[in-house]
Amino acid sequence: MAGRLTERAAAAIHLGYEDAERRGQSWFGPANLLWGVLQDPKAVAVAMLEAVGVERAVLQARLDGLLGADHGGGAEQLQLSPGTRRALELAYAEASQRSCKYVGTEHLLVGVAMEGGNAAELLASLGATVDRLRAALDALETRTAPGSAAPYEEVKGWMDGDMQSLRGRSILSMADLTPEQLQGILQKAEEFRQARLEARTLVDWKGRKSLALLFEKASLRTRVTFELGMRELGGVPIVLGPAEVGLGKRESVGDVARNLDRWVTAVAARVFDHNTLLELHRCSSIPIINALSDIEHPCQTLADLQALQQRKGRLDGLRIAWVGDGNNVLHSLMLGAAMLGASVIAACPAGYEPDPKIVSVARERARGGATIEIVNDPEQAVAGADAVYTDVWVSMGAEAEAEQRRAVFAAFRVTPDLMSQAAPNAVFMHCLPAHRGEEVTDAVLDGPASIVLDQAENRLHAQKALLALLLGP
Ligand code: CP
Ligand code: NVA
Repeated sequence: MAGRLTERAAAAIHLGYEDAERRGQSWFGPANLLWGVLQDPKAVAVAMLEAVGVERAVLQARLDGLLGADHGGGAEQLQLSPGTRRALELAYAEASQRSCKYVGTEHLLVGVAMEGGNAAELLASLGATVDRLRAALDALETRTAPGSAAPYEEVKGWMDGDMQSLRGRSILSMADLTPEQLQGILQKAEEFRQARLEARTLVDWKGRKSLALLFEKASLRTRVTFELGMRELGGVPIVLGPAEVGLGKRESVGDVARNLDRWVTAVAARVFDHNTLLELHRCSSIPIINALSDIEHPCQTLADLQALQQRKGRLDGLRIAWVGDGNNVLHSLMLGAAMLGASVIAACPAGYEPDPKIVSVARERARGGATIEIVNDPEQAVAGADAVYTDVWVSMGAEAEAEQRRAVFAAFRVTPDLMSQAAPNAVFMHCLPAHRGEEVTDAVLDGPASIVLDQAENRLHAQKALLALLLGP
């Protein structure tokens, strides 16, 4: 079902309306709507027109002729013409038919062309018939990111290869990012870190953007860094703890999503079941950010890669050893590291290896010769590694298996002895919270090789960068 207008489509209607007022018209007709659509050279509608051989300047000049002179006046009460109502209805129908959650300028253009009035006749006279416009849109749509969570209007920049492509996107997995986007987020994260040190503000939304933070599980780092990050960006964070929403219990996940969609600009959710994130995404049109699920923890990986880059000066060619559970943190780490050329060798007990599907995706996405290896021997993984990473043996949600896991994982503890088998300047990493004495000893966690607090600090910078890129200026 089509939902709200994209920012560009809303701006097009607004500009067309203002222009009709300036021209002293008493009706806001389809030709005014088309005039508004043409004002933004980056609109998808303009790309469609170019694809069917219609130059924006030529159409603008012809429309000016059709609409008449600018009288500099203004009608008392400008009415939406029946033709425009019809064009808008057709635009919404077009978006719905294409299973698009948004109505963009591309749908407005098709709506105007289908409406059949003088604007449609002008379009057709230049070769922009409904059929040709639809074919152009089909062709443009197939060039968008596969599985993209965003409306086409918002992902147009994807084709331009710039960071605009993140605008309006949901980030449920590290695999939702391209290597270029990931690199771009890390670069922005460093800019945010530097700006904060110098008390400079890079983004000030002045309360115009808001983030609902939904937590089904406990959190320190994720909650503090998202809430503080939103405040530092001039946005409004709304934190909803496990007892408040009753996600899927008090109210269905879909209903929660549809309500939040009407109030806030984005949602970050920490959930037990990754499917809950998919449902939140399916039932809303706003960006959904994975703040940890049973399958992935992408925000953690952003901070981790930033910390590694800070300490090692590069990611390309690094070798990261994982010791312990093949869990959510490892899944995201494998995907992110491989995309930026760093290899991961994970030592997990038999039966606790990472999901083979995610291992395959990480291998497919790997750049610069990066490899992903899964072994069962911690010493094999750590030998010569530039970083040694571990996480708790019992993740949130797996408490019932705690006793069994403690027995299975006993040999997967990072000790000074294990660290000494890594490369001479190897760093120790942990997403935290740590269970001291279980997966890591105090000597390693608090030792000179440990960068765990850099990782934690970077959650703030990396998530600010992510939010700024997803939510825009
Ligand atoms: N690393 C991490 O996500 O920490 P929290 O569980 O405290 O948010
Ligand atoms: N694997 C851990 C990470 C906590 C940040 C968990 O899911 O509980």
